[in-house]
This record gives sequence, C-alpha cells and structure tokens, in this order.
Amino acid sequence: MVLAGKRVLLVIGGGIAAYKALDLIRRLRERGASVRCILTAGAQAFVTPLAASALSGQRSHTDLFDREDEADIGHIRLARDADIVVVAPATANLMARMAGGHADDLASTVLLATTLPILLAPAMNVRMWQHPATQRNLATLQADGVRVVGPNDGAMAEAETGPGRMAEPLEIADAVRQVLAPTGPLAGRHVLITSGPTHEPIDPVRYIANRSSGKQGHAIARAAAAAGARVTLVSGPVSLPDQAGITTVHVESARDMLAAVEMALPADIGIFAAAVADWRVVHAGAQKMKKDGGALQPLSLTENPDILATIAHRTQGRPELVVGFAAETQNVIANAKAKLARKGCDLIVANDVSAEGGVMGGDMNTVHLVGPTGIETWPTLSKAEVASRLVSAVGALLKSSPS
Ligand code: C5P
Repeated sequence: MVLAGKRVLLVIGGGIAAYKALDLIRRLRERGASVRCILTAGAQAFVTPLAASALSGQRSHTDLFDREDEADIGHIRLARDADIVVVAPATANLMARMAGGHADDLASTVLLATTLPILLAPAMNVRMWQHPATQRNLATLQADGVRVVGPNDGAMAEAETGPGRMAEPLEIADAVRQVLAPTGPLAGRHVLITSGPTHEPIDPVRYIANRSSGKQGHAIARAAAAAGARVTLVSGPVSLPDQAGITTVHVESARDMLAAVEMALPADIGIFAAAVADWRVVHAGAQKMKKDGGALQPLSLTENPDILATIAHRTQGRPELVVGFAAETQNVIANAKAKLARKGCDLIVANDVSAEGGVMGGDMNTVHLVGPTGIETWPTLSKAEVASRLVSAVGALLKSSPS
C-alpha cells in the first residue's frame, strides 16, 4: 500500500480517455489512496459522476456554485484537502485554461486555487498536442511547477497515431507515487540538470551552436528520477522528447539557461552537462542580415556567463553538490583538474570529445571522474550507464539528509 493515507483529488477532463480515469481511480485505491473526483462538463459527456462516485466511494463534484457542494466542502477546501491534484485526461482546452489562469468552472477554479502538487496526464489528438499553442501552454505549466506524465505515442481514437494518447492508469499511478512517496537513494532530493547545446542568435534566423545532442544530460535526468529525485532539467534546443515525471524547462541561449537555472534553485545537487556556448554575438540584429556580394563584417563576440561557475561560487543557496563536465579534445585529465578548481565545483566528469571517439551525438561515452581526492576512470559505457553510475556516485557523496 505505497499510497496508504494519501488523498488524491482527480480532475477528469472532457476527452474520450475519461473512461481510463475510472480505471485510474481503481488503481489509486488499490495502492491505498483515497480519491475524490471533479468532472468537467465535457467529462460528463463521456463518464458520469455516478460512476466516479461509485468507484471512488466519495461524492463527485461538478459545479462551482452548487449550493450543496459549497455548504458541504466548498471549492477552496477541495483545493486544499488533498495531497495531490491529478488531471486525467488533461485536454488541450483544460491545459490552455490552466496556463492562462482561468477560473470559470469548478475544475479550473480548484486548479488555480490549489498550492498542492499538480500532475497532468495530457490526452488529445496528435495535431492538437503538437500545435505550438499547446506546446507553449505546456512550457508555461511546467515552468509553474506542474508535472506531466505522458502523453504516449500510439494509436488514437480517430485512427491516427502519434503522441497524444493518455498515459496508462498504471503509469499515472506510478507517477503519483513518485511525487507523494518517492523511493530510491535520491528520494526527497531536488536535482537540477543542464543539458544540450545553447543557440546564440546572430539575427532572427541564424545562430551559433555546437554539436551537443543532450543525450548524456537527458540520461542523467532519467537516472536521477529513477533514483527517486525530483528533477528539473534545463535543456537547450535538442530533438529529444520530454520525459514523464521530469520537469523540463526549454531554453535557447546561455543567458536564458542561467536565468532558468536560478529560477529552479534551491536544489540539493546541480549537474551541469550542457555544452553552453562560450560566446554570444554582441549585437544580434533584429533583421535578417543580407548578403551584398562583399565580405561579412566580422561578428563581435562577448563571453557568456559561466553557469556552472556562477552557481558553484554562490555563497548562499549553493547546491550541496555541484558537478561539472569537461569535454576536451586534448590533455583531458589535466584540463579537468584545472577546471575543478577554477569553476569551484565538487566533481568534474571529463571526457574526450575528439571527432574519432564519436561521443558528440553518439550513444557511448568514456569518462573520468575527477574529484579533489583522485581520479576514477570508467570503461566505455552507454550514456544511460554513465548516467546511472554518476547518479549513484553523486548520491553517495551527499552528507545532509533529505529535507
Ligand atoms: O569551460 P568549459 O566550457 O570547458 O566548462 C564545461 C563545464 O562548464 C560544463 O559543465 C558546462 O556545462 C559548464 N559551463 C557553463 N556555462 C558556460 C560554459 C560552461 O555552465 N558558459
């Protein structure tokens, strides 16, 4: 009974996946949780409040100004008297209203009034999911601390396939457990990770970038989440999907990345795996530069803030452990040692990124762990294996107990 004594407020949105929300009630109760349901007007076109009440064993709620409801429990108490709010299915419309701070029915009002952790299980047509408006809303909600599970890829009601299918009730129940009763060596810890390259604009269509794929940083985020941590992943532009249960903040430039990292603090552990551009263009043009048959005037570049060093040198609010990366093409160990001291971090993961090694963009990595007391060299491993070993190594170095 991993969720014994936990109270889940389940908001059922109006989509065909609402029928799966009924199974979710059962799965949550099997794990010991109590479940109270709110059904939007749309949800009631697919499932009835009676079905939700019968399965949850508690009266379901539908109306904002229901006299009986307000006298009995009231929308503010609904928003408060639980341990988590789960929105399943979270429709495109419900996500848009949440992102916009709307409060025009019971579900949206409770979602605006609550300070509890919120977990969304989006479900919608693939094109609705991929629409920039939905992706913008998703980014806004994630930046607000909302967690997301799914959607999954697969066949959908309209005989289409792609991302948009609601996560299965078992996956949602697991995600609820990860929020309410995390297990693993990093349970109760917040791990902040940077990943991917940054893009530094030259003009509205051109930018300076590098070959980082984000595969290693994203793998570390997954390993930290699997170890029970709450994970914030600040990612530069990559072509990797967001992961269930990981709060991913998307950024473009180094300066955006630093701002997102500072927003995400406090954290117990900071792992800075991003390949941050060292320089940015001083005056990125507002208009596209035109070729005129002559030479391009040299771009004037200035150094970007060093995110790792900025955070590692903080006197207040510094993560207990700060881990940096050193991607080198020569003198790997010597450069890593110098970097450890210069950046003020606790550990450097050093690797050789010469073209012949295929590390950049590849799936394998050969790393050396450089700490104040010594160097440990690992064999060539998959990035996933490097990630899980690194997470174990970092977890073992923590001295404080989880707050
Ligand atoms: O100085 P160098 O780029 O080699 O340092 C690499 C390490 O520093 C990595 O951990 C990288 O994420 C971090 N870094 C940073 N901000 C920068 C440059 C590097 O966080 N502007």
